[in-house]
Amino acid sequence: MEIRGKSVYFGGVALQELVNRFGTPLYVYDGAKMVSQLNRLRRAFTIPHQIKYAIKALPSLSVLKWLRKHEAGADAVSIQEVKLALHAGFLPHEIMFSPNCAPFEETTAAVQLGVQVNVDNLPFLEQFGKLFGRTYPCAIRLNPHIKAGGNEKISVGHSDSKFGISILQLDEIKKIVHRYNMQINGLHIHTGSDIADADVYLKMADIFFSVLDDFPDVVFLDFGSGFKVPYREGDASLNIEELGAKLSNMILDYSHKKRRMPELWLEPGKFLVSEAGWLLATCTVVKETPSRTFVGLNTGLNHLIRPMMYGAYHHIVNVSNPADQPENYTVVGYICETDTFGTDRMISKVREGDVLAICNAGAYGYSMASNYNARLRPAEVLVINGEPHLIRKSDTWDDLLRGQVVIDL
Ligand code: LLP
Repeated sequence: MEIRGKSVYFGGVALQELVNRFGTPLYVYDGAKMVSQLNRLRRAFTIPHQIKYAIKALPSLSVLKWLRKHEAGADAVSIQEVKLALHAGFLPHEIMFSPNCAPFEETTAAVQLGVQVNVDNLPFLEQFGKLFGRTYPCAIRLNPHIKAGGNEKISVGHSDSKFGISILQLDEIKKIVHRYNMQINGLHIHTGSDIADADVYLKMADIFFSVLDDFPDVVFLDFGSGFKVPYREGDASLNIEELGAKLSNMILDYSHKKRRMPELWLEPGKFLVSEAGWLLATCTVVKETPSRTFVGLNTGLNHLIRPMMYGAYHHIVNVSNPADQPENYTVVGYICETDTFGTDRMISKVREGDVLAICNAGAYGYSMASNYNARLRPAEVLVINGEPHLIRKSDTWDDLLRGQVVIDL
C-alpha cells in the first residue's frame, strides 16, 4: 500500500479508480507482489528446487497463468484443481496432485492425465502398486508426527491428523513398495499453515534423510509449505532467507555424504498470494451502540471467512480517508450471523460510503467464499504493470438459480 496525498495506491493504481470502475465488494490482487514473493523464495534456496503454487489458496485461472508465466509449477488437491491447472496451461509434469481421502478414481484419473501423484494412505498405496507396479511413479506423503501451524484447524502433521502415512508405519510402506516393485520417486511432508519456526522444516529434512536409503528411486523431497507471512505490523513471520540457507546446506551436506542430490520441492500458497490480495468493501452504516461503534460493510463471512473460522487477524484500512483522526471501531459484515472482521480497531475516521480494505485477503479469501445468505460473490481484479484486469465477474442472480431444480407442487 502506498498513500500519495489523500489517495491510497495498490499495485500502482489508485484504489478509488478501481472502485469507480468495478464497484465493491471487490477482490484486488497485485501481480507484481506475487512475483516478488516468488523470486524471494527462489533466491532463498540455493540448491536445485521447484516451486509448486498451492492452487487452493487462490484458484483463478489468470493467477495460475501469471504464476506459470513466472515459472511456478502447481500443487493440486482435487482432480478439478488438476484440470484447472491444465486449463491454465500447466504441463502435466509441472503439476503435483496430493489428494486426501478423495476417491481413488481421482488418483487414476491424474495418472491418465500424466501428472505427478502423491499417495497419502496405505490402502491406496497398495491399490496403486497393484494397478501400476513399476510402470508409473508416485510420491508418498508421510505424517512426521510434528505439531506445527498457526492453530489447531490448520495443523496437519501431528499423530492425530488424517494426513499422510505415519512415519511409524514405515515397515508397512516398504512391504507394499517391495511387493509391487513400485517406483517411489518422491517423499512429501506438509505439517500445516502459518508456521513461523524454521526448525520445523529442518526436522522434516532429518526425517527424510533417515528414510531415504529405503527409497532408491526418490528424486525429489517435497517440504510442502506453511510459510507464515505477516498479517499485522510486527507480526512474527517465517524468515525464509534463513530457512533457505539452512535447508539448502543440509541437503548439500547430505548429497556430499551420500552422493545423491534429491531436488527440493515447495508448495507455497499464502507466501505467494496472501499479501498480494485485498478485499475492498463499502461502509453501509456507522452504527453507534451504548458499548461500541460498528462499521458495517457490504461484505461478510461469505466473502472472507478466515476471521470467523480461524480467529485470523486481518489489517483494515480506510482507503477513502486514510489520513484522518483514528477512531475505535468494530468492523462487521452484512451476514445474518456474527461476522466480525476486527474488534476495537483504530481506523482513520470512517464515514458511510467510505471504502475499507481488508488486507492479506489473497490467500483463502475468494477460494473459500460462498453464496451464504443468497449473496453474490464479488468480482476479482488482477493488477499487472499498473493495469487492472477483470479476471472474474461478480456472481449474478442467474448464478444463484443455476442448478436449482424447482419441483412442481
Ligand atoms: N501443500 C499442501 C499439501 C497443503 O495442504 C497446503 C495447504 C499447502 C501446500 C499450502 O499451504 P500455505 O502455503 O498456504 O500455508 N484455509 C486455511 C489454510 C489451509 C491450508 C490447507 N493446506 C487458512 O486460511 O489459514
